[in-house]
Amino acid sequence: MQVMSDAASQGHIQKWWKEQIVYQIYPRSFKDSNGDGVGDLSGIIDKLDYIKSLGVTSVWINPIYASPNDDNGYDISDYRAIMPEFGTMADFDELLEGLHARGIKFIMDLVVNHSSDEHEWFKQSRSSRDNPYRDYYHWWPAEKGKPNWRWSYFDERGDAWKYDEQTDSYYLHYFAVKQPDLNWENPKVRQEVYDIMHFWAQKGVDGFRLDAFQFVSKDTDFPQLPEEYMEGKQQIIKYHGMGPNIHPYLREMYDEVLSKYDVFAVSEGAGSTFQDAHDLVDTHRNELQIAYHFEGAELGKNVDNPHTLLEFKQLYSAWDESFSSDGWLSIFLANHDMSRMVSRWGNDSEEYREVSTKLLNTFLLTMRGTPFTYFGDELGMTNIRFQTIEEYKDIDAINGYKKAQADGADMDTFMRNLIEYSRDNSRTPMQWDASPQAGFTTGEPWINVHANHSVINVEAQETDPHSPLNHFRELTALRQQHKVLVYGDYDLLLPEHEDIYAYTRYLDDESMLVLMNFSAITHTVHIPQLQAHTKVLVNNTTECVIEGDVITLTPYQAVVLG
Ligand code: GLC
Ligand code: CA
Repeated sequence: MQVMSDAASQGHIQKWWKEQIVYQIYPRSFKDSNGDGVGDLSGIIDKLDYIKSLGVTSVWINPIYASPNDDNGYDISDYRAIMPEFGTMADFDELLEGLHARGIKFIMDLVVNHSSDEHEWFKQSRSSRDNPYRDYYHWWPAEKGKPNWRWSYFDERGDAWKYDEQTDSYYLHYFAVKQPDLNWENPKVRQEVYDIMHFWAQKGVDGFRLDAFQFVSKDTDFPQLPEEYMEGKQQIIKYHGMGPNIHPYLREMYDEVLSKYDVFAVSEGAGSTFQDAHDLVDTHRNELQIAYHFEGAELGKNVDNPHTLLEFKQLYSAWDESFSSDGWLSIFLANHDMSRMVSRWGNDSEEYREVSTKLLNTFLLTMRGTPFTYFGDELGMTNIRFQTIEEYKDIDAINGYKKAQADGADMDTFMRNLIEYSRDNSRTPMQWDASPQAGFTTGEPWINVHANHSVINVEAQETDPHSPLNHFRELTALRQQHKVLVYGDYDLLLPEHEDIYAYTRYLDDESMLVLMNFSAITHTVHIPQLQAHTKVLVNNTTECVIEGDVITLTPYQAVVLG
């Protein structure tokens, strides 16, 4: 494939995957076509013209493979079959064709750190110690004693080892008990994965999103880890991320699969340092193409200690700086594992919801990196904030609650954080119109529709030229027309300002100035660069008051000047 074989290795080399604007769809919640309350592929097909109208160029859909849905499709029981609830392989083919016909690329979610325990490999593996599939997973024979502690994300007790009576052994699961970790140290497992990738690449998918990939390689002796490791599951990335053989495996995947097609791969998670992230994506390494780090997602994720704009600016500026000459990042503010964008980073009150949604989309679509936008954020959909644990659907919330209770944690603090940061916030159905189930389904939705769909919905925003939806379209058009927004250098202005985020982007003789007021206070600031940027390209309010090199920015105002 020509894309990656260029000898030069600087970050500004133009590649189609750097120029994408990705729209992420949580299929269970986008559009239900048959009234069973679950979104499906036919529903997405019905909305292809809407997707195209957004000006996005790629679609990433969360897993659609056969799955018992312990973790909503992230527990796969057959990597070559479509989940019946979502449709058939014929629907998939039609969807892919419909996207391609509209010039939109498709990114497949690939979950191969673990499978479902209902996958045939695991059924075989657990059946006897000498089954040929035994080494497809990590087993620890009980006669060796209890294995050293490993943290699990979704386990009720946080314990990644599950005792299995049938063969008197423990198996490893970094995620839920029904998500046993595959043994990447076994070359047969790796070959199986490459075969699966060939299967989908031959169907014509354009990219892979590698789920939880930083965890695949393991020290299979499972030694005891330092005391600090026992403090909690936030230690997982530090100790399990970027295991001993991850790079040889990625090189192998590149040689065996990625290099053979015009596709790209983005890893979920990027270790704990800039260097870890670079090692995944730097051009000469021929491993992955786009890094998706968690530092932004984790910033101030605590109701009692929220982030400041200064921290936010510093974080994004430091990452940009580190990737200014090689390697490539994604830029995102939300996904299916986070809160809704405007609730988390903006102001979702009635007064400021629309304007701050537009401000956040201005940031997303004017930064360097490949933007990953999340369905519904083009409208400014907000957190549903379920108040009682009974309302939650997510295994992370449900088992996290059980664990907090068992640990004697302060349940009030636990609930306040869950209400704000639960993954269910971003999984409520797409708000198409003001009808009882928001036009998502004619039946009972699998998870509640947000009551504010009567106000926040596509139908209402289509006809309003100043809606967040139409503002989003202005921004995607601007990014598609001006490569400076993709490749241009980034310079932070007013670094010490606590409410204003300002930067320039420049490439050859083109430059843009982005000014965003992240507060509900009006600010008047002096910015010398205003002299050279007099044309208002996109504005999220109706006025823009500039006098010489002084601009007045009203609450949450965001402007792009050229
Ligand atoms: C990733 C996914 C998340 C899933 C987990 C286990 O973090 O984004 O939704 O629960 O992996 O597959
Ligand atoms: Ca359905």
